[in-house]
Amino acid sequence: MIDPDDTDMAAPSGSKDDSQVRDQVRAHYAAVARAVTAQTGGCCSDSSQGDDCCTVPTGLDEQGFGAARYTEHDRSHLPREALAASLGCGNPLMVAELADGDTVLDLGSGGGIDVLLSARRVGPGGKVYGLDMTEEMLELARRNAREAGAANVEFLKGHMEEIPLPDDHVDVVISNCVVNLSTDKPAVFAETHRVLRPGGRLGISDVVAENHLTPDDRAARGGHTACIAGALTFAEYRDHLIAAGFTDVTITPTRQLIDGTHSAIVQAAKPEN
Ligand SMILES: C[S@@+](CC[C@H](N)C(=O)[O-])C[C@H]1O[C@@H](n2cnc3c(N)ncnc32)[C@H](O)[C@@H]1O
Repeated sequence: MIDPDDTDMAAPSGSKDDSQVRDQVRAHYAAVARAVTAQTGGCCSDSSQGDDCCTVPTGLDEQGFGAARYTEHDRSHLPREALAASLGCGNPLMVAELADGDTVLDLGSGGGIDVLLSARRVGPGGKVYGLDMTEEMLELARRNAREAGAANVEFLKGHMEEIPLPDDHVDVVISNCVVNLSTDKPAVFAETHRVLRPGGRLGISDVVAENHLTPDDRAARGGHTACIAGALTFAEYRDHLIAAGFTDVTITPTRQLIDGTHSAIVQAAKPEN
């Protein structure tokens, strides 16, 4: 995910048309999915870049990304391709506190790792949706779900800025290193709030920047597909969540990435009313 060659995407925020950025994000993750699917390797077979399916520039702690963030127990229950396609910057399941029977939505579900792990936690009476805009990732995730024998999962094609689910439909929204990729974060948070039932909660991992970093500072540290240029600051993240109607917002940095950018766990709740 962190790609040192991603210089074309490392432009100051606002200098690219949003749909162009989205197309580049989609093309990037389609290529990752194809590489995993074909097992020709892609970044996954490049031993110089670690085993976490990310290209990692000098100075970034590569253990912060990919399947290494999951317990051995969790990993033992996953298809190899689901592990190989793991591109997250954290483990949202550590904070999501999923319960038997919950309905869960994973924004930007990729190869399906968090969907499959959530499916085990919510049990046969629960349901887990994975939402992704990239067809190649959806194909990979559906294949992984079949291999894992997960009957309580459904992968939806769509954008997190326009979630294809009804109002008040899910108990928990999770996501792993995806919100930073959006060119319209207010829409993501508004849509997340809409689909959560009152009392529902958000538990996500994402890249977050220190408050003093300007959009240009962030873009100088990494491109958009690299999950850096599009990162919100801690203050922006909190403000957006509160503006969307969330309460009990906490943003906890878990690991520094590149100079002032962090993996973080973001938690919030939709009030009961
Ligand atoms: C960094 S990968 C993370 C995948 C997965 N969450 C994981 O931990 O392995 C980002 C994923 O988000 C998807 N994505 C990016 N922007 C999106 C958007 N606006 N709406 C839906 N999916 C999106 C990409 O297609 C890709 O599969």
